[in-house]
Amino acid sequence: MIRIFKLKNIISIKDFEREDIEYILDEASKLENVAKSKEISEELKGKILGLMFFEPSTRTRMSFETAIKRLGGDGIGFENSGSSSVSKGESIADTAKMFEEYSDALVIRHELEGVSKFISDIVDVPVINAGDGAGQHPTQTLLDLYTIKKEIGEIDNLRIALIGDLKFGRTVHSLSNALGLFKNVKIYLVSPPELKMPQEVLHDINKTNVTWEEVDSIEKIIDDVDVLYVTRIQKERFADIDDYLKIKGAYIINKKMIEGKDLIVMHPLPRIDEIDTDVDNTKYNKYFTQAANAVPVRMAILKTLIKNNPK
Ligand code: NCD
Repeated sequence: MIRIFKLKNIISIKDFEREDIEYILDEASKLENVAKSKEISEELKGKILGLMFFEPSTRTRMSFETAIKRLGGDGIGFENSGSSSVSKGESIADTAKMFEEYSDALVIRHELEGVSKFISDIVDVPVINAGDGAGQHPTQTLLDLYTIKKEIGEIDNLRIALIGDLKFGRTVHSLSNALGLFKNVKIYLVSPPELKMPQEVLHDINKTNVTWEEVDSIEKIIDDVDVLYVTRIQKERFADIDDYLKIKGAYIINKKMIEGKDLIVMHPLPRIDEIDTDVDNTKYNKYFTQAANAVPVRMAILKTLIKNNPK
């Protein structure tokens, strides 16, 4: 059977079926050698990726740039709206239309939910959501799933704890939605009461076979999980900084807590203080591997979308 990837844009992981996810993960593993080698492939020679980052980013932007360059193309763009003409009052729509003229695909990060979708409706090139406010971060989810599959062997039968800011953390929203496509998954939700998983995400999970449970301490579930997926408290999304200060540092993972356990620790990064640095040099640390996996996974995404949708 010849498999095809049907999506033109990557806006929400909710648009994916299981086979779409598997398609990207398979492509990514085929590209691992190129991602790690010093060779540059010519698969996307001459192609330009437009990177519109209205919100800060390190790994996401740099791994997209590395991915397009490793495939023989190049990236253009800005890292914050202050360095684009949006700061002079240009509309996002005009900026996107102009970027479309220069690029074969657009990658967008914005503090408002729905901006990538809005842009995908007004341009013809593929659009990739690299994080929209507290909404979705589908390409992070693809590299999270890739990491889980590589480290644990399969995504079915996973037992995972999502820890930290489940309210504003877009990576845990997308990941929960994606896990709904797999079999026999159990999700433990560990967060301060103020930062619980939003009702709409729980509503989505309830439509799947995933079972979930809210718990108030990591100790209660630590012997029952394959993955501790830790996230930072999203300071920038609090209206009142005092509310942030009250819950900062609520859950911290250290080496002593996990020693002898059969699990891995993941984190989309950046880390603030949720994972003690004493975990960094242990076998449990898969957060740096996860960041490295961003390159083959984003190469697979770019190759697929740009080749399927030539300008
Ligand atoms: C995440 C994000 O931007 O949502 N970072 C990332 O892309 N790896 C997580 C975060 O900012 O906490």
